[in-house]
Amino acid sequence: MKSITVKTAQNEYILSVGRGFKHKIAGLLKETYPKSKFAIITDDNVSALYEKEIAKTFDELDLRYDVITIKPGEKSKSMSVFSDINSFLAQKNYNRADVIVALGGGVVGDLAGFVASAYLRGISFVQIPTTLLAQIDSSVGGKTAINIPEGKNLVGAFYQPSAVYIDMDFLTTLKSVDFADGMAELIKYAAIKDAQMFETLEESDKIDANSEILEELIVRCLQIKRDVVIEDELDRGERMKLNYGHTIGHGLERMCAKSGRHITHGQGVARGMAAITAASEALGQTLPGTTERIIAVLKKQELPTDIDGFDKDEILQGILVDKKNMAEMLNIILIDEIGKVYIHEINSGEVERYLK
Ligand SMILES: NC(=O)c1ccc[n+]([C@@H]2O[C@H](COP(=O)([O-])OP(=O)(O)OC[C@H]3O[C@@H](n4cnc5c(N)ncnc54)[C@H](O)[C@@H]3O)[C@@H](O)[C@H]2O)c1
Repeated sequence: MKSITVKTAQNEYILSVGRGFKHKIAGLLKETYPKSKFAIITDDNVSALYEKEIAKTFDELDLRYDVITIKPGEKSKSMSVFSDINSFLAQKNYNRADVIVALGGGVVGDLAGFVASAYLRGISFVQIPTTLLAQIDSSVGGKTAINIPEGKNLVGAFYQPSAVYIDMDFLTTLKSVDFADGMAELIKYAAIKDAQMFETLEESDKIDANSEILEELIVRCLQIKRDVVIEDELDRGERMKLNYGHTIGHGLERMCAKSGRHITHGQGVARGMAAITAASEALGQTLPGTTERIIAVLKKQELPTDIDGFDKDEILQGILVDKKNMAEMLNIILIDEIGKVYIHEINSGEVERYLK
């Protein structure tokens, strides 16, 4: 098992990464919190696959716990589910010595983290991420949030976990579409920060949950995320660079949501990375040949790369939906070349140039 330490202004915690240690997590929790009660928040899918196995390890150590199961999917990151969980905790007399455990993907992690930040003004919070996206990204760095009708992730807090246990064995049961979504973010980390990691992706076959190099890739993403979070915990500068591919990706997601079409977050980000890089390359802001390399790596992981079938004006509306007028400035994230990312400030009116 590998350990990575994250030291933020809020606290210091360890990310433990490896395979085959999920049955040991209850013991590790008992060592840190010998007298606490644990509220394990999970979703129906993860519960069906892992609840019995995890609960058994808690039972064997006589730990006190409850399991709170939510419906899978983005809709559960809502004010009403947030409220129901807080009521449950209050009714069961959870106090400040007790611990919230997020067992699931980014949806469970974001929701459980926000509950932990708010219940009794903050109680301890541990992440056991079970999707690739959650293992390389969302479980680390303390961004927690729920959605409101006006927009995604609009209500939340910066609240760091106390520990993150990353057992890659969870990934063996992920659907391939969910695995590919995580791969989009993994490729993003390489493209923005690590040319050598990107070359590894170019040289390797399609990656799956059992690939030998997956652990090394996950660890590298976590180190990058750790470094970015340490530098900019509150997302005021450096952390924005993690949004490479996300401006167009989010625009696509919003546009599709409006028209009843569905694309996943990873599919949006994959298309967004390819599209923004093609545009910046055409504008002379990115080393020639970079787009081709990005598209080849994305395609190998069976991710989509073009925005041709989508209405550009609608994507534009999707991008600018948060902007009150076209005169506002917008930060877009570009790469000079593989591994070198920068923030480029443009007038919102210029976004169209990056959708060509
Ligand atoms: N906090 C952050 O920094 C941050 C960063 C990126 C994304 N996010 C958030 O993360 C969320 C997306 O996370 P996600 O992609 O993990 O989605 P998710 O949590 O919806 O999980 C995807 C699907 O996989 C299922 N699942 C989870 N683990 C499984 C397993 N081991 N085996 C089989 N199925 C499993 C889930 O039930 C779900 O159906 C979004 O809400 C996004 O806003 C947060």
